[in-house]
Amino acid sequence: MTNLVAAQAADPKLVAAGKDTFAKKMCTTCHMAEGKGNKNLPLDDVGAKLKAPDIKKWITEPAEMTKTLKTKPAIPMPKVALTDAEVNGLVAYLSTLKTPAK
Ligand code: HEC
Repeated sequence: MTNLVAAQAADPKLVAAGKDTFAKKMCTTCHMAEGKGNKNLPLDDVGAKLKAPDIKKWITEPAEMTKTLKTKPAIPMPKVALTDAEVNGLVAYLSTLKTPAK
């Protein structure tokens, strides 16, 4: 099956930088990806679930995105201070995650 979205190859350097930022900037306190971090909020298939602009909005305006949830989390996602480059890396990295955790 051809996936047109996957055909837009992600920049491997940006993805690697995003993976690094994910581990270093508190994300794994609450989220898990690729077996690392908090199992309560896995992001292993977020790249299949959300488009890049929505992933970006979660990172840059989490309060706005939390408003869209039917069930509000006990501890809502905080806004983490990040540079534009870090945000772009995170979006590139998370967009590659398309397989739900087992
Ligand atoms: C204090 C805990 C906490 C931290 C730290 C945190 N998040 Fe979140 N995040 C949440 C919660 C809670 C949600 C909403 C989950 C839900 O109910 O769908 C969320 C949602 C998301 C979503 C949307 C997930 C989906 O399935 O719709 C993304 C993407 C995301 N976070 C990325 C990040 C990134 C990247 C970082 C690090 C910069 C981060 N989060 C840090 C708690 C956190």
